[in-house]
Amino acid sequence: MSVERIGKIEEEAAAAIAGAGDTAELEEARVRFLGRKAELTGILRGISDLDPSERGEVGSAANRAREAIEALVAGRAGELEREELGRSLETDRLDVTLPGSPPRPVGHLHPVTRTRRLIEDVLVGLGYRVVEGPEVEHDFYNFTALNHPEGHPARMLQDTFYVEPSEDLDPSCGSGPMDVLLRTHTSPMQVRAMEDSPPPLFVIVPGKTYRRDSDATHSPMFHQVEGLAVGEGLTLADLKGTLLEMLRALFGPDREVRMRPHFFPFTEPSVEFDVSCFRCGGQGELEGGERCGLCKGIGWIELGGAGMVDPNVFGFVSEHGYDPDTVTGFAFGFGVERIAMLRHGMGDLRFLFENDVRMLEQFS
Ligand code: PHE
Repeated sequence: MSVERIGKIEEEAAAAIAGAGDTAELEEARVRFLGRKAELTGILRGISDLDPSERGEVGSAANRAREAIEALVAGRAGELEREELGRSLETDRLDVTLPGSPPRPVGHLHPVTRTRRLIEDVLVGLGYRVVEGPEVEHDFYNFTALNHPEGHPARMLQDTFYVEPSEDLDPSCGSGPMDVLLRTHTSPMQVRAMEDSPPPLFVIVPGKTYRRDSDATHSPMFHQVEGLAVGEGLTLADLKGTLLEMLRALFGPDREVRMRPHFFPFTEPSVEFDVSCFRCGGQGELEGGERCGLCKGIGWIELGGAGMVDPNVFGFVSEHGYDPDTVTGFAFGFGVERIAMLRHGMGDLRFLFENDVRMLEQFS
């Protein structure tokens, strides 16, 4: 076994290692030149059998060759790993803006927002303008100008959240400790809107309202939409037509509207309005004769309050052009959550405010 042969092996190994294009090829070369069956390994193993005169020379040449080849493998491995990392950084680049596979929806607006916008769309289509008002309101707008007599039960602390009055209150709004409150309905904007613009007036007021109520169907904060129409010669028939149009847009073209006598201090006459049940078609029972659970067998679903604007309310804004002898008007108000729950078949209002995405994403 000549030392030349060892030099040849080392050359062949060096060429194979340098020519390895990836780590798999390099591993093949390593096994070929350094593995158990490699020629060089055989030489090293056979050294003890050699003639003692050859042993030293061949042994040290073979060991040097092995170390040299090991060093070349290690060096090439480092190069290849760096190259492969660079390549995979190039090709496996992740575009986080691509849609997933399958694509994930990007989410949607909250059901209350969607329902509020739908209601706004319908009423804007009927010629109403959207206005918004303060959620922290004066007693004057929330109660007094809406014809609530002093001591009216709605003014009681059990029903209404009062706010500490600030130092710089508008003195024309009274200044008792019970003057500032979280509005209990959107109706105070009736008065503010009339103060702002003369008749004819067609406005809707979507927004948050607050009452001391909390159960499966009441939340201390909830949303209402108020409507106010004032002009000459408006009647209860106009109110009914407006409600019918709106409820058909929300609950289907076959719906009917019903008004029942009721009382509100700021409308006269006052009504509550119902929509015919969209589950049983107003029959109160389902096809098999089973009682309809949605309307509880009544055929009608209660939605909100309404009525003709009380002349006393116009009295508070008569200097803004609202002469109770020449104008008439109607107003209506209802809860947005209730409409959302009905439209989506939701049983518990609190789902709407717990912000559990697993629940909210079902109502798109
Ligand atoms: N503001 C009344 C309520 O919250 C509803 C209503 C609005 C009634 C407009 C009549 C006219 O109960």
